[in-house]
Amino acid sequence: MHLAAMHTPSQIQLNQQGNLKHFLTIEGLSKETLTKILDTAQSFFNAQNQLITTPLLEGRTVMNLFFENSTRTRTTFEAAAKRLSANVINIDIARSSTSKGETLRDTLWNLEAMAADIFVVRHSSSGAAHFIAQSVCPHVAIINAGDGRHAHPTQAMLDMLTIRHETKKPFEELSVAIIGDIKHSRVARSDVAALQTLGCKDIRVIAPNTLLPCGFEEYGEEVRLFNKMEQGIQDCDVIITLRIQNERIDSPALSSQAEFYKMYGLNKERLAMAKPSCIVMHPGPMNRGVEIDSSIADGPQAVILQQVTNGIAVRMAVLALSMQGQLQEKGLIEAIAG
Ligand code: NCD
Repeated sequence: MHLAAMHTPSQIQLNQQGNLKHFLTIEGLSKETLTKILDTAQSFFNAQNQLITTPLLEGRTVMNLFFENSTRTRTTFEAAAKRLSANVINIDIARSSTSKGETLRDTLWNLEAMAADIFVVRHSSSGAAHFIAQSVCPHVAIINAGDGRHAHPTQAMLDMLTIRHETKKPFEELSVAIIGDIKHSRVARSDVAALQTLGCKDIRVIAPNTLLPCGFEEYGEEVRLFNKMEQGIQDCDVIITLRIQNERIDSPALSSQAEFYKMYGLNKERLAMAKPSCIVMHPGPMNRGVEIDSSIADGPQAVILQQVTNGIAVRMAVLALSMQGQLQEKGLIEAIAG
């Protein structure tokens, strides 16, 4: 067995200096590492709160390998790489040689031979990014852009940046509710892990039993499960609504979308049960009239589009930090904040 195959994702994410190398999952990373990502992301906004462009990754090549559909994630990774002055190559997997029978390893080795420094990977199989991290040359960094139901670490970090920026409160003092299809959601899993690591003491997971994963009650005492939305959102500071992941559901977990909206749709009456300052988030794509009412999605408490902009800053941070070891060698590291 290859030695790396014995490593867990969290172990192979850090280099010998304890700095981020690959970004595969939130689990196993320290509060300091997550805070460093948030602070670095924040440093990519100027005083007018606009994203900056920097030469930090000039001459580096970022390859976007998306084996699964994506709008926001792929585009914001591309925008992030361009703002860092890297070269970006989007591989159209549907038209690549993997569809002619080439193995994933062979595809990767060929792309590496084209001088890739970072692969941004989205895949429908849980563990795909970890597998790729074990298969590539040591100088190549892997960023997980979502693997199956497992993890979506950059989404979690852009969610954390949005929460930190919009609430202006320490994570320890926040009550956060996550509503919807928790069972099939890599976002829910990564959000809970990030909130716990950053010190949040009150995480409420709200879903019908059919959309709750087994073992979620073992996540820790900070995490409480609610079947009734009205109970779960009482006085919370942050609500994260999630889409029903129809593409990952083998048999219908709910009788209908209308039924889901009736029981779990975020509308004005329900939002009024949270704190008046409560912010509403959604990773997208949003199904209006299913998990969220349009009046809320377009209302003053929604920060859904801020999440998208923060996604560019967080992805810039993760791309830059994953090259930190190599930038250090070139004396460029002072350019990264913190
Ligand atoms: C999420 C994903 O792909 O996991 N979306 C995203 O990255 N913006 C959530 C979803 O698909 O529902």
